[in-house]
Amino acid sequence: MVKRMVALIAVLVLCTAGTTEPMVVGGTLASVSEAPWAVVLTNKDAVRDSKRWCGGVLVAPNKVLTAAHCAGRSASSYGVIQGRADLADHSLGKFSAVSKIWVHPAYSTTTNRNDFAVLTLTKPMTGVPLLRLETSPRADRRGAVPTVYGWGDTNGTGPEDTLQKLAVPDLGDATCLGIKGYAENGYTAAANICAGYLDGTGDACQGDSGGPLVMNGRLLGIVSWGRGCAEPQYPGVYAEIAPVAKTLLEQVR
Ligand code: ARG
Repeated sequence: MVKRMVALIAVLVLCTAGTTEPMVVGGTLASVSEAPWAVVLTNKDAVRDSKRWCGGVLVAPNKVLTAAHCAGRSASSYGVIQGRADLADHSLGKFSAVSKIWVHPAYSTTTNRNDFAVLTLTKPMTGVPLLRLETSPRADRRGAVPTVYGWGDTNGTGPEDTLQKLAVPDLGDATCLGIKGYAENGYTAAANICAGYLDGTGDACQGDSGGPLVMNGRLLGIVSWGRGCAEPQYPGVYAEIAPVAKTLLEQVR
């Protein structure tokens, strides 16, 4: 129990540290048409007017993949919005409540491993293009340049609660394993992707968790954690899809 508390505090520190840093940080505006499968997870307890809580990905008309660390509340407290780049524009997009939450059975708050959850929607979002899952573990390699999408904090580098995108170079597992605190916080070569900029150019940020990291039209990873946002020497950590694709697909069918 004490261990769990300590782990939880560690994750919270990682997720809240550096809130004065520029907030997706360093990105540009993205349109719904280029990322129709990107969704916002809302929660009734969110402090913002928009009720933005996390990001997510539509992987079936009635299934949204997000981060396990986003999905710890009751199903009835969540909502999912698709098709609304500016969350203030209530005239656009689709909304659904959530009827069921599956959290990866091996999700660990100690190591942040298997940070995956699948939400079942009460109202399927029909007619929306879905994002397919990357199944090759070789897709995560240094030098690849996937793109992260999210409505999260921009720290002033863009409008709030608006869909942003940022190309984040895959830095390779060795980079994150060499960063102070990252291996200790559970970074694992076989289960994580290390992506972003060591000079603080840009990064995913608070509120982007659970959202998509995309390459070649496939979901490569899910925004999971980082120290602060866009802090020099501290890139973003993503939960890698390929090793768990089979397990996730069982939840999606
Ligand atoms: N854990 C945070 C969240 O729940 C942020 C995750 C991404 N952080 C980062 N620096 N890449 O939104």
